[in-house]
Amino acid sequence: MIKSSEEVAKMRLAGNLASKVLIMIEDFVKPGVTTQELNDICHDYIVNELDCIPAPLNYRGFPKSICTSINHQVCHGIPNERVLKKKDILNIDITVIKDGFHGDTSKMFFVGEPTVQAKRLVDLTYEALKIGIKTVKPGATVGDIGSNIQDFAEKNHFSVVREFCGHGIGKDFHEEPQILHYGIKGEGVELKEGMTFTIEPMINFGRKEIRILPDNWTVVTKDHSLSAQWEHTILVTRDGYEVLTIRPDEKI
Ligand code: MF3
Ligand code: CO
Ligand code: CO
Repeated sequence: MIKSSEEVAKMRLAGNLASKVLIMIEDFVKPGVTTQELNDICHDYIVNELDCIPAPLNYRGFPKSICTSINHQVCHGIPNERVLKKKDILNIDITVIKDGFHGDTSKMFFVGEPTVQAKRLVDLTYEALKIGIKTVKPGATVGDIGSNIQDFAEKNHFSVVREFCGHGIGKDFHEEPQILHYGIKGEGVELKEGMTFTIEPMINFGRKEIRILPDNWTVVTKDHSLSAQWEHTILVTRDGYEVLTIRPDEKI
């Protein structure tokens, strides 16, 4: 669970390369594009420009190189021929492998101008991620992260998805510990310098319950309310955190 300084250096590189994919794809997210086209652009960039492996491809049978989740889709949407239209909200989730180590990050995109409701959900979910990240330091627990995210989401009358969580990350895509986005302060695994994990809250406009579509991957809200997710890969440092997948426009 603890990375050596050599492993941290590799995680830092993998995280930075994953962040570049989200920056690159921004200009392509507009009305008329299909999620399959976004997949193909990302795949080519990851393989040919970054010299990385797209981790989702063939991961437990996942058929594509990125996840694309639209509107009431919570996560793990499979790119296909669906055409994006104005007012859609889209999560693109990128995981790359560089020199054996994973970097995992996702963000929300607006297709055209968003509705007021969609913007509120997306912005608040980003705030929830940042609140989770700022909780990270040696001696804090995973329960502290989860409870801070949950309190913030529920105070704003949104709900937190329970079935999926953040995760340790390194040579493996999903490692211990699980990082739940709800919980009780002081409970769970204690954070230690050198741990690397993701925080990736999924927040619903309506109720927290989800369903999985017959494709066995796409997670949707049961009540069809909008859902948003943002994700970063985090390193626990001596006195706090480092966001390994941070983009230049972010201040966390
Ligand atoms: N990137 C997702 C995560 O944040 C996992 C996607 S698994 C896949 O953990 F198979 F759907 F790609
Ligand atoms: Co993840
Ligand atoms: Co991810």
